[in-house]
Amino acid sequence: MQAPQADRVRTLEEWEKVWQEGRIGFHQPGVHKKLEENLHVVLAGRSKVRFFFPLCGKAVDMKWLADMGNSVVGVEISEKAIKEFFKESQLTYSEEPVPGITGAKVFKSSDGNISLYQCDLYSFSSSVGGQFGAIWDRGSLVAINPGDREKYAALMTSLMAKDCRYLLEALTYNPELYEGPPFCLLNEQVHTLFGKSCNLELLQSEEFFTKTLKGLDSSTQHILLITVKK
Ligand SMILES: C[S@@+](CC[C@H](N)C(=O)[O-])C[C@H]1O[C@@H](n2cnc3c(N)ncnc32)[C@H](O)[C@@H]1O
Repeated sequence: MQAPQADRVRTLEEWEKVWQEGRIGFHQPGVHKKLEENLHVVLAGRSKVRFFFPLCGKAVDMKWLADMGNSVVGVEISEKAIKEFFKESQLTYSEEPVPGITGAKVFKSSDGNISLYQCDLYSFSSSVGGQFGAIWDRGSLVAINPGDREKYAALMTSLMAKDCRYLLEALTYNPELYEGPPFCLLNEQVHTLFGKSCNLELLQSEEFFTKTLKGLDSSTQHILLITVKK
């Protein structure tokens, strides 16, 4: 039997509407607790790390990491989200077209440490943004359409430098009770998606309660570390 969410699709236009209508319950005003708790695992003694934020929204984590001396590249379809990020972070920025991606723009903080690409994630590649020493995947693999997961994993793997440490937040719950996004993402599926070229380590699994997932009796948040196989 097919999984209940396998065919669910939220289009880019629908995501734009979410931002226009301010239905952004996923946005957190503070730094994400799980990033904070696991930052030492991600940095592993390194400084000035290049972080990638797929589907970045206006996550305040980006400024937090940049303020520590890291650099951040994000991809987000909503221009409103990107402009709100810079405004709320009180950062000045420039805006320019992206050679190689028709219609895309890149918004760069004046100090050059934060670059946010306004485009479809699947138009982005290592030839546009290079490779990364770290990835923070929150509200991203769980937010993309379930049918795109293999394409997404192939893109993420291509963006990982050899020493990349990729922190992933996954969520499991009864998919009969909630249509998503966020979609249910089993640890076994993360293994299927990344296991060929990467090592995976489950760092934390905790009961997860949120008012935004209406109808769910319970859910579990999983934090995984993904690294490239030697
Ligand atoms: C659930 S939100 C999470 C945002 C952010 N990671 C956070 O934790 O607050 C997913 C975001 O991805 C954006 N998005 C969805 N599909 C996208 C795609 N294919 N390319 C670029 N952005 C996309 C949406 O506009 C939305 O802001």
